[in-house]
Amino acid sequence: MAKAASTADNEIFDLRLERSTGDLWPMLEALYGQHPGYGAFRDALLNALRVGWNARPADLRRLDLKRDLEPDWFQRPDMAGYVFYIDRFAGTLKGVLDKLDYLEDLGITYVHFMPCLKPRPGDSDGGYSVMDYRAINPAYGTMADFEEVSAALRARGISVCVDLVLNHTAKEHAWAQAAARGDAKYQDYYLMFDDPSLPRQYERSLVEVFPDNAPGNFTEYPHFGKWVWTTFNEHQWDLNWANPQVFLEITEVMLFLANRGVDVLRLDAVAFMWKRLGTRCQSEPEVHMLLQALRACCRIACPAVIHLEEAIVAPAEMLPYLGRGKHDGREGNLAYHNSLMVQFWGALATRDARMMSHVLGEHFPERLTNATYATYIRCHDDIGWAITDEDAAALHISGPAHRAYLSNFYEGSFPDAFAPGALFQVNRATGDKRISGSLASLAGLEKAEAEGDFPAAELAVQRILLGHALIAGFGGIPLIYMGDELATLNDYSYRDVPEHAHDSRWIHRPKMDWRRAQYRHSDEGAAGQVFRGIKDILARRKVTEALHGGHPVRIVDSGLAGVFAFVRQSPTGALLGLFNMTEHWQNLPEAMARVQGITQMDDALSDAPVIAHHGQIALPPYARVWLT
Ligand code: GLC
Repeated sequence: MAKAASTADNEIFDLRLERSTGDLWPMLEALYGQHPGYGAFRDALLNALRVGWNARPADLRRLDLKRDLEPDWFQRPDMAGYVFYIDRFAGTLKGVLDKLDYLEDLGITYVHFMPCLKPRPGDSDGGYSVMDYRAINPAYGTMADFEEVSAALRARGISVCVDLVLNHTAKEHAWAQAAARGDAKYQDYYLMFDDPSLPRQYERSLVEVFPDNAPGNFTEYPHFGKWVWTTFNEHQWDLNWANPQVFLEITEVMLFLANRGVDVLRLDAVAFMWKRLGTRCQSEPEVHMLLQALRACCRIACPAVIHLEEAIVAPAEMLPYLGRGKHDGREGNLAYHNSLMVQFWGALATRDARMMSHVLGEHFPERLTNATYATYIRCHDDIGWAITDEDAAALHISGPAHRAYLSNFYEGSFPDAFAPGALFQVNRATGDKRISGSLASLAGLEKAEAEGDFPAAELAVQRILLGHALIAGFGGIPLIYMGDELATLNDYSYRDVPEHAHDSRWIHRPKMDWRRAQYRHSDEGAAGQVFRGIKDILARRKVTEALHGGHPVRIVDSGLAGVFAFVRQSPTGALLGLFNMTEHWQNLPEAMARVQGITQMDDALSDAPVIAHHGQIALPPYARVWLT
């Protein structure tokens, strides 16, 4: 419960303010210094931080101290995430309390509640169209329920991540409603234009996020005479981050959520927060200044909380979200490793890991400061084939042809493809086709089961486990997407739901199949095999010190086109991760491992020694090994 700040508490606040002063004010000065209200804004922000800290419950203040002392808590190998929609997993928020044993059984220490703040009615883009940041979706429960559940999770050592959409609010948000009524103060919270001339100029260099069902980036509202910036859907109005008032309001929301027991704020669609004429209006330098400043605010008033920045962009554009250059160590603590996910699927389809090694080796640093990745194989969104023409050219192949091949393969239209995916947002102008589909279906299980092909089903299971061994070993928090641990197939019922039928991403957002979960310990069937396999991977990860997110990851050439390899270097010795991305046996010279500093030839994943024959390590189809 909140208690008035004591002298000691005030002192702690002042020390933290001092610590982060250099991270905060220079950013705000550069962003808003010229704004007429800058002085008042500065005072109001400082006051908001103090109010937030004063209201912080005692148990969370204790957590703040704990994490000040253990700043690497989120990089440790015992971190393992699980991502789910509250209603689809447990009915309601309180229902989650009945599922804690299940989560613990799998080895989960971090949960991401998919968007759970109050969305607009009807189609809400899966909850990413928020009309009230301070209320829980009434279909899930109340804020009091949230506090109860987050406390119960905390008591079990499980952290909670929630989405905070920074780029836009629903047009039903109180700010948007006031703006639509003509209130000038709130019109300045958004990007509104009196006529279409500027929108047209911006449009020339903008890209379309949802070209199929929400073309264009602006919407005209004749009833109040404005063109409103709507990057995503018509009902999602982009916020005007050039207005310091928006920064202040969102900071207050952040502290409010932090004080309800949120550990990780997943900052949604951050790339779009700053607009500049003549650019794509994505990842502009000001975005990183804003994010550094928001991070500093949490470090001052709720330092237990960390930020996961969602930017599904090319590697060079994504890395700055983890703090590069002058923002090094000061921006996002976590960011999605989209490239790892894309390259995993690319290598499976082509049976060739060379593109994967090239992209991950060329574009990513071995080490990050105060940050790590959120690694994943599937999530609630589609897969976009983010492989640049330059990277394709480096491997002497054509970018467009390669991307088209991957789309066709996972759509299931290519001969020999094992995956029945669904197309998402086909962009006729660019030829770009994105793919939806559940992990198990994309990995081949659906087709194999439909055809009664048991060897193919076995290969699909091995692909699923290969992917999890990859994300658990690479560095960062591995995120398991609800249902994937039970090899859940595509759910075609979304086509019958009017709000979802236009959005194929719902094919991989099924309801949790609790009957299937009952067989999770069984030896028979894919569900049991996958559940036990993932549980085992997480358990082995937990005791493998070399997998700490702070230790560098270096991509190495395995010498075999089909085998992806990396080395994790730690004070206790090296770990060589080997991943056979093909259904063929591969022979790896033992000398390759020895050169990388592997001395014992123990597999930390199976906890068994690896025996080489005639100097060769034999890797079965889809083998994964963490060699120490
Ligand atoms: C993020 C979400 C996606 C949503 C978009 C707009 O990219 O992951 O599901 O559609 O933001 O809010």
